[in-house]
Amino acid sequence: MEVVIVARPEDAAPIVADAYTRLLARTPSAVLGLATGSTPLGVYRELIRRHQQEGLSFAQVTTFNLDEYVGLPAGHPELYRTFIEREFTSHVDLDPARVHGPDGLAEDLLAAAADYERAIADAGGIDIQILGIGADGHLAFNMPGSSLVSRTRLKTLTRKTREDNARFFDGDISQVPKHCLTQGLGTIMESRHAIMLGFGRNKAQAVAEAVEGGVSAHWPASILQMHPHATVVVDEDAASQLRLTNYYIDTFNGKPDWQGI
Ligand code: GLP
Repeated sequence: MEVVIVARPEDAAPIVADAYTRLLARTPSAVLGLATGSTPLGVYRELIRRHQQEGLSFAQVTTFNLDEYVGLPAGHPELYRTFIEREFTSHVDLDPARVHGPDGLAEDLLAAAADYERAIADAGGIDIQILGIGADGHLAFNMPGSSLVSRTRLKTLTRKTREDNARFFDGDISQVPKHCLTQGLGTIMESRHAIMLGFGRNKAQAVAEAVEGGVSAHWPASILQMHPHATVVVDEDAASQLRLTNYYIDTFNGKPDWQGI
């Protein structure tokens, strides 16, 4: 696991966007795993800028969202499918038919989850999976206690996550769905490169547990310690409870330019 500590959240975007630029130069038909939440927005904006100003092309790319609320009507602004289109995919040359997300309106949610796993495998697996982290250490919508080998499935959101996300629903928790479909931790672990971002002091404990604590379903993001290529990019606030800070900084500063994250 590589830990990159940046001074401010906006300093993370070019570092992470470079990983995409290198991947797309190598593999124009790459498969990208996309995350919602406020944390990845800077990266999406930098990728859009590179598309518009530097010709970075997503024309052959396929994407898979991490998760989706169950039961929000089509077109709802907080539907994760709508969010990803609004914040990223509609601003680049991605074919909308290749933008995928779990179907939270499916009549048979369990079948929809299994279909989603199959679609990811049929596309060849995910090359870069971008991830945020919940204050309780959740990844995608894998709440504390999630099986460390779980696959895409139906989950119940914790009250804490619904409270955290109520800010997107006029502050009204009763409007936040109680259930979701989410890629499992086992699904995320199969991505070839997992990049987890964390910004702000309210993520500091979760980041410390994920990076330096024991691997435990209680802190789902800690499973990334078992990932062969995981990069954690955090700002100084989110890094404030880490213990090996100097080592992480020395290592990153000492890397040759060609290596990337
Ligand atoms: C939601 C998403 C997660 C995201 C988390 C943190 O629960 N399902 O993928 O990591 O929110 O959101 P934010 O980045 O806004 O802090």
